[in-house]
Amino acid sequence: MIIIKNSLFISIMQMAKQPFLEKLRRFFEMESGYGTFATPWGSFMYFIKQGHIMAHFIDRIKFRWFPKFAFISNFPSHLDVETSSACQMKCPMCYTTYMDAEKKGIMDFNLYKKIINEAIKYNVYSIKLSWRGEPMLNKNIVKMISYAKQSGICEVAMLSNAERLTPELAKAITDAGLDWISLSVDGNANTYNIIRAPAIFEETLEKIRVLREYRDKVGKKKPLIRIQSILSAIQNSFDEFISIWDGIADRVNFISDQARDFDVKGMYHDQNYVCPTPWQRMSINHNGVVHQCISDYNGYMIMGDMKKQSLYEIWHGEKFRKLRERFRKHTYLEHCEACLYCTDNVTNEKEEICVNGKKMKVNVYKGITKVKDKIGYLQK
Ligand SMILES: C[S@@+](CC[C@H](N)C(=O)[O-])C[C@H]1O[C@@H](n2cnc3c(N)ncnc32)[C@H](O)[C@@H]1O
Ligand code: SF4
Repeated sequence: MIIIKNSLFISIMQMAKQPFLEKLRRFFEMESGYGTFATPWGSFMYFIKQGHIMAHFIDRIKFRWFPKFAFISNFPSHLDVETSSACQMKCPMCYTTYMDAEKKGIMDFNLYKKIINEAIKYNVYSIKLSWRGEPMLNKNIVKMISYAKQSGICEVAMLSNAERLTPELAKAITDAGLDWISLSVDGNANTYNIIRAPAIFEETLEKIRVLREYRDKVGKKKPLIRIQSILSAIQNSFDEFISIWDGIADRVNFISDQARDFDVKGMYHDQNYVCPTPWQRMSINHNGVVHQCISDYNGYMIMGDMKKQSLYEIWHGEKFRKLRERFRKHTYLEHCEACLYCTDNVTNEKEEICVNGKKMKVNVYKGITKVKDKIGYLQK
């Protein structure tokens, strides 16, 4: 209680120093780098299809608003669980491509069970089974989905490059109860085949179509299928990209090009940014080590280790306390190296794009080299 009062006091004092409109803007500001091509009605229906409507609604409120009021929940409502930090691809924009070999590994099933057992004890709402690498490289991935679902986690999801998505795996993840899957398809055929080599666009499309067909055939609504592309990879071909996924995906999303722990020259960090993640989630790597957040790809700030502590102890430990305080006091840039490589705290600007004849504003980060430009210089 004292901690909450203290951090609330700091936040009010900090807000008092900022101009009124700036205070308002920051209070209502949400995650900025992600977007969807779905209509508002499509987004509403997607929310409904996710199920657990009341629990999900409450979870969204906690996730969005607890950080704004510096409210530290008993346990985070979301966990990022890195089932694999290894990957078979070498996407030019991705941190994993450049990551040291000793950081690559596969999560052991016993460690995973320990995470899920604690998550259940504290009513975790959602888990994501991917972070830096490719989750389908973990041979226990289906068992992991089943274990989490049978234990009672409401939302079990993952991001994947779909390269290993055989018809058998598509069937198994559907039967295991996966709630949603985000498949990364950066661009249409030509761009995709360069960024995501050795994967081939047409083959990936077919793999995802098979997943959709199986799901429909057995009369299931899940996994919901989301396609996500990096924004610059579909620049100038939005309509074509969206129409390809018609009848296959439930939703088509994009993500603004980020730095991802390298290529940081020229980024404009915002000292007054208050990152919501230390109030929202914990990111556990394949070895059970908890990093500062999902943007701390390199492990600049280690918050704890599951081999020695429980997740509860780590969440309420000194490292998380200090991290939250640094955001409240706007001193994070002096202390948190990972934040210097993160894009979330980078000042962004709006870019206008035209989708199906309608104008839409998207956020792009100042000072970031876009993937589209990167593949240009990588080919030279
Ligand atoms: C790191 S990958 C891990 C999961 C899986 N291997 C995949 O490709 O989806 C997670 C997501 O990060 C995205 N990503 C990687 N590098 C990025 C960058 N520089 N900017 C924005 N998104 C990036 C990928 O496109 C993918 O959608
Ligand atoms: S984006 Fe995904 S598929 Fe590509 S290198 Fe990174 S982890 Fe692998």
